Amino acid sequence: MKHFVILCLGLIINIAVAAAADIENGKKLSSACSVCHGKDGISTYPEAPNLAGMSSIYFEKSLVDYRKGIRQDRRMSLISSSLSMKEIKDLAAWYSAFEVTVTLPEL
Ligand code: HEC
Repeated sequence: MKHFVILCLGLIINIAVAAAADIENGKKLSSACSVCHGKDGISTYPEAPNLAGMSSIYFEKSLVDYRKGIRQDRRMSLISSSLSMKEIKDLAAWYSAFEVTVTLPEL
């Protein structure tokens, strides 16, 4: 029984590790995004939003919506169609890890 419990725990840990996003891969993939979204996730292209510090849930949903055609944009629909779900998760891990500070305008 003890061995069975240890075996089960081992399997659960293995599954968790396999499903974990690969932030290093996210960093690599992001070079294809930086021309519009900026290397630091701060957009360099007026029509593109900032990705720095974006919630991974919102990030993933946006890319899945572009892929499914629920959300449409000629650039993002094309780009997202070439990304796997794993790559989307890796990219989400990368961009959501950015630390963002903001300064409110003084009024
Ligand atoms: C050619 C420029 C361009 C490139 C390259 C590009 N994007 Fe975008 N991205 C845009 C534009 C423009 C939008 C806004 C589209 C819209 O209005 O829905 C956008 C929107 C997004 C959004 C939705 C953000 C939000 O605030 O709703 C995400 C997430 C995103 N891009 C991720 C990526 C990722 C990841 C890559 C690289 C794999 C990438 N983009 C490459 C131009 C680009």
